[in-house]
Amino acid sequence: MRGEVPLSSSVEIRTLTTPQELFEAAAEDVVHTANDAVGQRGCFTIALSGGSTPKSLYNLLATNARTSLPWDRVFFFWGDERHVPPTDPESNYRMTEETLLSKIPVAATNVFRIPGENPNAAAAAEAYEQTVQKFFGLQPGQFPSFDLILLGMGPDGHTASLFPGSAALREKSRLVVANWVEKFRTSRITFTLPVLNAARRVAFLVSGTEKAAALHAVLQSDAPGEQYPSKLVRPGDGSVIWFVDRAAASELSTSQ
Ligand code: 6PG
Repeated sequence: MRGEVPLSSSVEIRTLTTPQELFEAAAEDVVHTANDAVGQRGCFTIALSGGSTPKSLYNLLATNARTSLPWDRVFFFWGDERHVPPTDPESNYRMTEETLLSKIPVAATNVFRIPGENPNAAAAAEAYEQTVQKFFGLQPGQFPSFDLILLGMGPDGHTASLFPGSAALREKSRLVVANWVEKFRTSRITFTLPVLNAARRVAFLVSGTEKAAALHAVLQSDAPGEQYPSKLVRPGDGSVIWFVDRAAASELSTSQ
């Protein structure tokens, strides 16, 4: 069962001088990965990340890369969502709608958002888990292999809504769970580690000095993964690429 942390996956770190260069490199990678997937399997399944970092990437995909992607073959999911309606300023879906989805020719049937409006977070997670299982035609115990999962990383080393010490970190069989986040006194809905670690490719986007200490802890220390959950994302058969800017990489030792 996936979800353990194998050391076999390939991990690439690309340090770009500025945030803009980071977003341009990430956009190129998305386009390349998408066209590869469509060429090989006829479609491209991507799980989007939330927060603020990916906004510039989504804007680039909607403008410079708008004609480089077969949008009708692209299927959008989210790696996590706040426990709010899709119209809420905190909603990851709303952010993606504003920066990307409203600007590209994608059918609503290609977009699978997390139903954060459900007052019962656990029920929202269960509903989304069924959506993913149905789309990928999964049997119980199977995990989806997304072509690409985009992830961010918080200054505490969390990714998706897998926060340090939170219950979801120990989930090994569910695909999607509601995860109580003590520091925000709220639930989030998130993919579990087995789903992240079943991806064909994971791309982290990390920008800014406030992420530097956590990035060092995740990439170059033996701190426990429970404390820095991004450390636990190591797809068994997939690849991981870290797009980081010089500010976020300022505490990495280049000798490694
Ligand atoms: C979310 C994200 C979360 C995010 C990190 C980094 O729902 O907020 O999924 O994991 O990627 O918190 O956020 P920033 O990009 O805003 O720094």
